[in-house]
This record gives sequence, structure tokens and C-alpha cells, in this order.
Amino acid sequence: MIERLQELKQEALQEISESGNVKDLDHVRVKYLGKKGPITEVLRGMGKLSAEERPLVGQKANEVREEIQTNVEKKSTELEEKALEERLEKESVDITLPGREIKQGARHPLTAVVEEIEDIFIGLGFQVTEGPEVETDYYNFEALNLPPEHPARDMQDSFYITNDMLLRTQTSPVQARTMEKHQGKGPVKIVCPGKVYRRDDDDATHSHQFMQIEGLFVDKGVRMSDLKGVLEAFVKKYFGAEREIRLRPSFFPFTEPSVEVDVSCGICGGKGCRVCKQSGWIEVLGSGMVHPRVLEMSGFDPKVYSGFAFGMGVERFALLRYGIDDIRHFYTNDIRFLDQFKWV
Ligand code: DAH
Repeated sequence: MIERLQELKQEALQEISESGNVKDLDHVRVKYLGKKGPITEVLRGMGKLSAEERPLVGQKANEVREEIQTNVEKKSTELEEKALEERLEKESVDITLPGREIKQGARHPLTAVVEEIEDIFIGLGFQVTEGPEVETDYYNFEALNLPPEHPARDMQDSFYITNDMLLRTQTSPVQARTMEKHQGKGPVKIVCPGKVYRRDDDDATHSHQFMQIEGLFVDKGVRMSDLKGVLEAFVKKYFGAEREIRLRPSFFPFTEPSVEVDVSCGICGGKGCRVCKQSGWIEVLGSGMVHPRVLEMSGFDPKVYSGFAFGMGVERFALLRYGIDDIRHFYTNDIRFLDQFKWV
């Protein structure tokens, strides 16, 4: 029996040393030390031994068991260390590699300009309102004093969706929509930014989609001098306190009288240069006193209420502010162009 134990020990030690991983090793441990293992079996058979042999075999069995146990533990530590080393090797990080760049976005320049202009008008007591881009013929034209067949409709070539629906050609319909909501009671004091669409061929100064900001102030006793004061305050805030404005008579069907507003040229200070085409002035927006018919159609009594309105092209304000020479840059999403506006 002592010999059998000796043999078992040799076999076990051999198998332990050959175990390549923790699982195999565990197998070996269970095989030799488990309840159904050969050592347990030897111990069970001890009853048949003589009184002299019994302690000797018992001692040997314990010795063998302990040795196997110690070897299993040693091997187990070895295997664990090896596995850890392999993992460290495999998962090692090259700390000399440069980090991955996190690309930071920027506000689109048109968004930046819209938000800046909104802020100025909010400071002057206006509220920001929006309207739909798919608009009815009624709001886009009729409610603005442009009945069907009116020749001024030709000024704005439109994208019609049905006979009665179109992509709005201007933000002015928001005037009519907002006045209707107020049900004849002033004041209405709003600015409305948004996209508008016209059937234009795209070039450096035209785009079939562009942005406008509309303004409307209706109350009792609003006068032309209010129009001039508000627009002057706005222009000086946006372009700089040294800039002047000039009103020129013009025509819009929804205003009477109508004016075009120019700002003194920021490049030459009014002396005349290439940017202002030698005139010293740059046209920036259309405006006027709201036509009595427009007030009336939207539920305001023109004998009680008066108002002024204005509309401006956002791209123009962005071109002038940032010295951009082609409106198409705003819509082609070239990252090299957009990247330059991180600071605005
Ligand atoms: N809607 C006009 C256009 O797109 C711009 C405009 C002019 C708006 C005068 C106004 C205004 O509110 O009073 O050409």
C-alpha cells in the first residue's frame, strides 16, 4: 500500500506539472484528492490492515495528500501569475501614442447671427416668434395685401406645393398669423427668424433657400419716428455705435409708406469704396408703416392701431460681419469654413 501511495504521488505530481491552465489543474486536484479519489480509497481500505501497518500507511497517505495539495497550490499560483502576465502583455497600453482628438462643433455662423440679432431685439422689448415654412397662399401673399394677380407677386418666384400651398417666400406671413392670435388687441412686438425659399439660381449672392428675420410692432400711436429710433438702435448695436442709418423711400405692398434702410459703410466710413460700390451706404433691410389694409385683414382697427414692420436677410448681416464673399459657403457645409466660427 505504501508503494501504491508512492506511485499515486508520482503520477499526481507529474500531472500537476503538466497542467497548462487552472481548469486542468483543478481536474487533477479533484482526481487525486477528491472524495472518490484513490487516496480516499486507500484510507478506506485501512481497516483490513494489521495494527502495525495501519499507522504507517495512514502517515504516508497524509504525507502524500499534503504534498499533492502543496504542489497544486504552488502550480495554481504559478498559473495565475502566468495568466496575469499574458493579459498584461496583451492589453498593454502604449502611453506614448497621441490621444484621440475630440472634435468640437461650432455654432453655424447663421445661427450665431440670428441669436445675436434676437438678443438685441429682446433688449428692445420684442418677443421671438416663429411660423411654418410650408405656408398657405393666404398668409404668404393675400393677408399681406398681395391679392391674386397682383404684379408684385412676381418679385418673389415661389415654390408651389399645391395651388394653395407653397414654401414661404418671406417671413412676413408670421406678421399676419401673430396679429390674428392677438385678436385686435395690442401691443404686438415680435421678431420672427426663419428659413424662406425662392426660385432663384444659386450664385455668390443668391440662394434658393435663405434666412430672414421679420419684425413687427403694433400698438396705439406707433409712428415713423419709432421705426427710425428702433432700427437705429439695432444697427448701432449690431454694427457699431459709429455707424449711421439712412431711410430711402421704397415700395412694399404691406407697408405704407415703405422705406429701405441703409447703413453707412464700415470699410470707408462713408467716403465710398468697392464694398459700398462707391456710394458710402450699404442696404440692409426693408421696412415701413404697416398698411392699414394689412392691420384690418388681421383683425386690428387701423383707426386705433398703427405699427411698423421690417424684414432683413440674415445672410447679408453675416456676410458683412465676417467679410464672407459667397453666400453658398453657408449652405455647403465645408468643415474648413465652419471650423473658423468656433470663436463666435
Ligand atoms: N418681406 C420682404 C421681402 O422679403 C422684406 C420686408 C420689407 C419685410 C418690408 C417687412 C417690411 O416687414 O416692412 O422682400
